[in-house]
Amino acid sequence: MAKENENQYHNEDYEYDTLTNEKLIKDHDYDGIRELDNDLPPWWKWLFYLTIVFAVVYSIRLFVFRSDDLIQYREYANEMENLENAKPAAPEGAAAFEVVVLEDETSLASGKETWDKICAVCHLVDGGGLVGPNMTDNYWIHGNTVEDLYKIVETGVIEKGMIPYKDQLSEQKRLEVVSYILVELQGSTPATPKAPQGKEY
Ligand code: HEC
Repeated sequence: MAKENENQYHNEDYEYDTLTNEKLIKDHDYDGIRELDNDLPPWWKWLFYLTIVFAVVYSIRLFVFRSDDLIQYREYANEMENLENAKPAAPEGAAAFEVVVLEDETSLASGKETWDKICAVCHLVDGGGLVGPNMTDNYWIHGNTVEDLYKIVETGVIEKGMIPYKDQLSEQKRLEVVSYILVELQGSTPATPKAPQGKEY
């Protein structure tokens, strides 16, 4: 009875530590070691409530409103967008290379270098023609546009002795040498011009 007066909060449902008179967890007895039934510290409880509130808000935003600023959704969307952007990049990049006559000095000088080094063997340095046709006249076997010439340099005419330069020269180098033919060799007067071949343009 005296014990009960000491603690006004005493309750029939609990057992109390005889020494400190604090609440014990019922039926929690391991070889005489008992555990106190203390309240959780307030900071812990509030943190716990906060996580519940956070989870509810997060779930609603994620599953109901599908907010796109929730990391996984945004990341996924970004990844997909990047993929979409990456796809047409290759063909666009290829199309960006335009086969048009280059008239700047650097390109023509570079074209002449290629010509003298590789093409002159068959077409001569001055373009007069030897094994290959004359590049200075108005006669062309495969057409006279920059695309026509570019295509021949790219694919060659193997059976006639014109080598394909697709693998040997970059597209830039091919365009440079073709430009050199059209800008510098066309209309010039070679020392020993080969007889016209093909059609006059
Ligand atoms: C091994 C000899 C050889 C070499 C090297 C060579 N060509 Fe030719 N080229 C030819 C022959 C042969 C033809 C004629 C093809 C035909 O009759 O269809 C030709 C044709 C061409 C034509 C088309 C001419 C026309 O009348 O339509 C172009 C353009 C051309 N060559 C550019 C080049 C360029 C540029 C190079 C150097 C990168 C080069 N050639 C290197 C032998 C050569």
